This record gives sequence, structure tokens and C-alpha cells, in this order.
Amino acid sequence: MSAVKIIDGLYWVGAVDWGVRAFHGHTYNTQKGTTYNAYLIVDEKIALVDTVYGPFSKELIANIKEIVDPSKIDYIIANHVETDHSGALPAVHALCPKAKVLGTEKCKEGLYKNYYGKWEFQTVKSGDKLSLGKKTLTFLEAPMLHWPDSMFTYMMEDQVLLPNDAFGQHYASSQRFDDEVDECFLMDEAEKYYANILLPFSPLVLRKIDEVQKAGIPIKIIAPSHGIIWRKDPGKIVNAYVRWAKNETKKKVVIVYETMWNSTEIMAKQIAEGIISAGSVDVKIFNISTADKTDVMKEMLDAKGFLIGSSTHGNDMLPNILGFLAFVKDMKPKGRIGGAFGSYGWAGGAVASIEKVLKESGIEVAQAGLGVRFVPDEAEMKKCFEFGKEFAGRV
Ligand code: FEO
Repeated sequence: MSAVKIIDGLYWVGAVDWGVRAFHGHTYNTQKGTTYNAYLIVDEKIALVDTVYGPFSKELIANIKEIVDPSKIDYIIANHVETDHSGALPAVHALCPKAKVLGTEKCKEGLYKNYYGKWEFQTVKSGDKLSLGKKTLTFLEAPMLHWPDSMFTYMMEDQVLLPNDAFGQHYASSQRFDDEVDECFLMDEAEKYYANILLPFSPLVLRKIDEVQKAGIPIKIIAPSHGIIWRKDPGKIVNAYVRWAKNETKKKVVIVYETMWNSTEIMAKQIAEGIISAGSVDVKIFNISTADKTDVMKEMLDAKGFLIGSSTHGNDMLPNILGFLAFVKDMKPKGRIGGAFGSYGWAGGAVASIEKVLKESGIEVAQAGLGVRFVPDEAEMKKCFEFGKEFAGRV
């Protein structure tokens, strides 16, 4: 895709990755693809803010060439070391070998350990400024949004924030701006991105937003490193981040299970009936063996209750649900309640194992787990219903 003018002197020169379906290894299923957004600022001096994933180097360079001769680039700002934003740095720098690379101290270390480049590096800290002529860039360190090296670049006169991973979405599109795409779809993708990438760093997200708001920094445009640029109403995504980072939840239960011979699935559906009978609690059910775990995490972002089910295998839970719970634990959800259920044959074990992991994840186990031997009978189906109803009451 060609370069796109954002405002006078600022261009999107990134790449659209329509085909990627597994991001960060397989920790994020990018069913809608993604983009690697790089930005070219043209003034008396020329700065490139971030690059793209290495295999897209040619696209980035072709886009830069539509605007300027790459040899004229004076600065390459590296907001973040991760390879989806720095992979093309060696290829670009080879075309402008005198360009200085700017980033945080940790960025310097990380870039070196990734590329062993011989570029001149200037370390920047929060509040440092770089004049390009009429435009001035200010840097703001943003550790853990998404890595310890991360920082934001702010274009002072134009009031444009380039926050790298923050406020992004994995959403491949031929459109570049929020006023060109479906708003509900866009917010869904932004929510999924938050739930799967930024949730564990929520306290830092709140602190950074508070810092920016207290500093009274006006923001007209937020141009992240993935997905769509927010120019219609940047406050909308900032307010959503505040809500998500505060772990604000709804009266909602997400049931996630894995089943061997369908008994645990029967239990899950009957538990859901009990929740629905309570009248005011939303419920979502996922078989983790077939569901997209990235979507499941998105549904869990605003759910007060998590119910986790597994058949017992080898006195423990099944492997897919175990792997999913490891991911949930990493995401560090706060203020949630949980419960466990599952069927077993000759010996149980899954319910106790699930409860142990829930507790280790900071999720309060709100009621005793429910195990059923082999296939639930009528009385046990009633117990499943009551289990769901009771849990809905706690939610
Ligand atoms: Fe999009 Fe942390 O990289």
C-alpha cells in the first residue's frame, strides 16, 4: 500500500500484513491480519518514526521513496525494540548511514542485541526534545507499554501522539483512519488487543494516561504502530483504555471448558442455563479446543466471573485448558471471581487443579467446585443448574 498523508509533513509509510494469523509466536491469533505503521516526518530535517517487520522492508522503503530520497533521512526514532517495529531498521539505515538512531537506554541495548548495528545512537529520556525545523518532537518514556524500552514520540506543534504499541489494533485494512472504518468493529479489535497484550500492564497504563492528562498535553491525533489512526475522536480510545485498565467489569460470566466425551460440555451448557435463569447476567461459553483463545480473552476483559471446566485426565485437567489458564495467569486479571467444574471417570482431580490455578492467578474461588462422575444424571443436571444460578448471584 502506498504512503498516506496524515497532515502536512507527516506521512504513514508502513506496511499492511494481510496474511499474518499468528503473532508473537502463537500468543495472539491475528484473524484480521495487522499493519506495521511507520511514520515519516518531513521538515528541514527528516525523521522516520519506527520501521516495520523485516520481511516488509521493501514496502517501507518504497513508501519512503514516494515522499523523499531515503538518503535524506536525518533521524530514525525507535519507539520500541520489538522486531515488528525495528526489523527493517538495518535495511533502511543502509540507505541513510549518517542518520542518527534515537531511543531509550534500554532500546539502545535491545537494538544492539538484535542487529549488532554500527549506527550512531542517541539516548533520549522523558521530556527530551528534538527540533526538526518548524516541528518539534518530545519523547516520553513508556516502560512496559509494551516492553521496558518503549517510549512515545509527541509532535508538539501538530499535537500528534505516536505511541507505538499503545492504542493499536491488529487490523489489516486499506483504510488508515478511524472515520473511514466501522466504529464497532474497530473498538472490538482495540479491546481484543488490550485484553491480549496490555492487560497485565494496566497499572502502568493508568499511570501514563494520568501523567499525560496532568501535563495538559493536547492530542488531536493518536497514530499507533498497529492498525487504524485515531483522528476523529482520540479521546474515545483513551477513555476506553482507562476503563479497561481499571478492570471495570459487567455482570457477565465466561465459561471456558475442555471435554473428552462431552459430559463436561453438557455440564457447561447446563451451568449456563442456571446463570441465564438469574435474569440479569450475560454468559458466554467457549470450548477451548475449538475456540480462538484471543477472542476468549477479549470476552473475559469485562467479565466479573470465570467458570472453568475440564474432564479429568491423569488426575489433572486436560492440556488445552491448562495452557489457556497459563495465559490467563500471565494476563493478571484483577477483581474477578471464579469456579471450577468437570466430569471424571474412575478418579477426579481436574476441579482441584483448576481451583489451584485460579487462586494462583489472583482469581477468588467463590464457591465449591462441582464434579460429576461419568455422565450427569437428572439430579446432577439439577446441581449444575443450581451451580450456575448460585454463581450468577455472586456475580
Ligand atoms: Fe508491536 Fe511490542 O510490538
